[in-house]
Amino acid sequence: MNQEFIWGAATSSYQIEGAADEDGKGLHIWDVYSRQPGMVFDNHNGDVACDHYHRYREDVALMKEIGIQGYRFSISWSRIFPEGTGKVNEKGLAFYDKLIDELISNGVKPYITLFHWDYPYELYQRGGWMNPDSVDWFAEYAKTVVEHFSDRVTCFITFNEPQCFIGMGHVTGRHAPGLKNPLRDTFLMAHHVMMAHGKAVQAMRAVAKQPILIGYAPTSTVCAPDSDRAEDIEAARSLYFQCPEKPEEWSWNVSWWSDPVMFGRYPEDGIRQYAPYLPDIRPEDLALMNQPIDFYGQNIYNGYRVRQGGDGKPECVKRSPGYDKTAMEWPVTPESLYWGPRFLYERYQKPIYITENGMACHDMISRDGHIHDASRIDFTEAYIRELLRAREDGVDIRGYFYWSLMDNFEWTEGYRERFGLIYVDYQTQKRTLKDSAYWYREWIQNHR
Ligand code: BGC
Repeated sequence: MNQEFIWGAATSSYQIEGAADEDGKGLHIWDVYSRQPGMVFDNHNGDVACDHYHRYREDVALMKEIGIQGYRFSISWSRIFPEGTGKVNEKGLAFYDKLIDELISNGVKPYITLFHWDYPYELYQRGGWMNPDSVDWFAEYAKTVVEHFSDRVTCFITFNEPQCFIGMGHVTGRHAPGLKNPLRDTFLMAHHVMMAHGKAVQAMRAVAKQPILIGYAPTSTVCAPDSDRAEDIEAARSLYFQCPEKPEEWSWNVSWWSDPVMFGRYPEDGIRQYAPYLPDIRPEDLALMNQPIDFYGQNIYNGYRVRQGGDGKPECVKRSPGYDKTAMEWPVTPESLYWGPRFLYERYQKPIYITENGMACHDMISRDGHIHDASRIDFTEAYIRELLRAREDGVDIRGYFYWSLMDNFEWTEGYRERFGLIYVDYQTQKRTLKDSAYWYREWIQNHR
């Protein structure tokens, strides 16, 4: 395949920017949530984070040093619209103008995510995703961003992991706003989120200053076959896309969150199982969700091994004792980057970007002043090799974004977990490239 392939790294606004109350930014739900005692590990919050808002020049210089070709970052909605809608804050636009110009002049291609979970607090108080107006609020914000930045930026992603901000924000309550809403409400929110995606795509295309590429970035826990027997491959494929029978587990599913966007319909097994909880699904809502998009983004960290069980149904294979895992206790499963993209491409037939993949390690600064994160190097190379194998087998993959460029605020885990290629000392804000950053630099040079 000869298409452009981008080696990149990703971050998100609240996780790195800091400057939580600066230059007219409005509050968002994560500001409010993490300032409440007991919500985040050791009461950490993102008020300062990596202070990227003030240090973006240094951070772009480090990207250049690593040789990163693409940088995926998110815009903080409440910097642009402090109240979520209505009045635009010029200083918010100005910050991203400076960042984008700095990226471009250093040869790093910007990829903008519109929404990576920091929902404007004012809108939340007006009902948030429960409110049917939330569809228009998001479209208005998306339009403003594209109108302003599309003279220089050509790749936009609407939502990062909608499963997470609804599933963890409103089903398990482990993320902001920290609620356990009734299932009926969460299905309605998901419906509005996908309508908001569709309406935003329409609004963005209408104002773009040049042809732009628009994508969507859900996540999945991949199901990989336990062997290359056709029955196991089929078992893995069907489990991957099946809607969970337990309605309280629906929010993590692939097809519930992607079939409406890609095909304009909800999966039938889900419609049957979740009937008591579903909102009124109007054909025009589905048509709105199903706007043509240019690529399918996917955040993949790990997965299961699946085989056909004795009863003919798919079953997950138990992990072996002492299996490899990351500091987050997530299993290390490189084959997820082969089978995930392969199954997703078969179903959705869109170019794929791996918008996130990476590992949290117990990093430390050694006596020699370096961070020897050998396991991150090993993890990343193993995953990337599987991704390239999928590409060789015909899956149209256009890029890979390591999560994350630098250590940052890991949501409920605070600063306890480190995912970065760059080590951040939060006392001094000193950045140090880890061994993995030097490894990635070499990898990129050799795989242009
Ligand atoms: C999110 C990131 C997060 C990462 C590691 C993804 O679910 O998009 O914001 O830091 O996983 O947990």
